[in-house]
Amino acid sequence: MAVARPDGYQPGFGNHFATEAVAGALPVGRNSPQRVPFGLYAEQWSGTAFTAPRAENRRSWLYRLRPAANHPAFRPYGRDSLIRSAPFGEVPLSPNRLRWDPLPLPASPTDFVDGLVTYAGNGDAAAGAGVAVHLYAATASMVDRAFFDADGELLLVPERGALRIVTELGVIEVAPFQVALLPRGLRFRVELIDGPARGYVCENYGAPFRLPDLGPIGSNGLANPRDFEAPVAWFEDRDGPHEIVQKFQGGLWTTTLGHSPFDVVAWHGNLAPCRYDLGRFNTINTVSFDHPDPSIFTVLTAPGDTPGTANCDFVIFPPRWMVAEGTFRPPWFHRNVMSEFMGLIHGTYDAKEGGFAPGGASLHNQMSGHGPDRASYEKAIAADLAPHRIADTMAFMFESRAVLRPTAHATETPLAQLDYDEVWADFAKASLPG
Ligand SMILES: [Fe+2]
Repeated sequence: MAVARPDGYQPGFGNHFATEAVAGALPVGRNSPQRVPFGLYAEQWSGTAFTAPRAENRRSWLYRLRPAANHPAFRPYGRDSLIRSAPFGEVPLSPNRLRWDPLPLPASPTDFVDGLVTYAGNGDAAAGAGVAVHLYAATASMVDRAFFDADGELLLVPERGALRIVTELGVIEVAPFQVALLPRGLRFRVELIDGPARGYVCENYGAPFRLPDLGPIGSNGLANPRDFEAPVAWFEDRDGPHEIVQKFQGGLWTTTLGHSPFDVVAWHGNLAPCRYDLGRFNTINTVSFDHPDPSIFTVLTAPGDTPGTANCDFVIFPPRWMVAEGTFRPPWFHRNVMSEFMGLIHGTYDAKEGGFAPGGASLHNQMSGHGPDRASYEKAIAADLAPHRIADTMAFMFESRAVLRPTAHATETPLAQLDYDEVWADFAKASLPG
């Protein structure tokens, strides 16, 4: 029996993939033949409504040892968890700017699911709109247990530690500077490859992430489709108790199977997990003066109901050359109708000289004035504007059309920097002539 290597990948974003871990397992010509090869069970996994337009429609056919329906009733998870779900109303919402120190690693063995901490979110999981932002800090692999999120798709952004993500459709490995996109409902477990892991998660309740349109940029640029990688089919035929934890309408639920849920032998379709290496981002910016809006750095966008106004944009600030003439090169001061949750994967961010550390986070909600801190500002207006490469950086932003409400935990944690407003204090008043 030929079994596919679990570290194989298929390139392309949203392609119609076809893959089998055992030769001859994938039916040809009929998705659901009367008799599937080897007695496998055919199961359709839908990521959009059946009737979604073809360009939007996402679904895959899975051929597995047992149907996913084969499980006992779910019961409440029963463990303490800091995962929260929209609508977020735990604490009164203030318009203040927020910033947090990095999440410490847990003192006791904690896996990815139990290491998730929700910081903020908006919308309503039940209405299929909005996002939640979680951070994770894990010191243990998930063993004989799987997780799936019925409320939304998950975009994982590792900051520290590589992850081996075993999914129903195959295995994806991601390290810092890579991201993983896990569609709604996909069962997966997270194993730690090289020690403790930490990072960020965007849980998208709305329409799935996709590549942004490029307009006048043309047919190439930003994140190119071929650099996204879906796994090849891989399965494990393993009996014994396996827990499945699911997030459903904000609650966590658990059940136990007598076998591994990762038993999909073959699959085809365009609904699949994938990974993307941020180092492959084709960064585009000015070659004359000023700098375009940060939307020029959009990797993925999850559209909202209003054209051009995203439920969530995933935007990165990667290493790049700065060549603009006569220009204030760092991010300018601004007030945005969208709301911005930022994290730092590596190095420093060019609008902040300190206080925004890798693994940390900041939240600038709708119409909050923000921008460079004083030290960054002074440095920028005095800088020699020779071409300069910002090499030691990788920041990102989850930018959403609606205000991101922080959770009670995010508001009360000692990681919150209560003096954050100070970074914009002490700017000297401009002096007019005469
Ligand atoms: Fe901003």
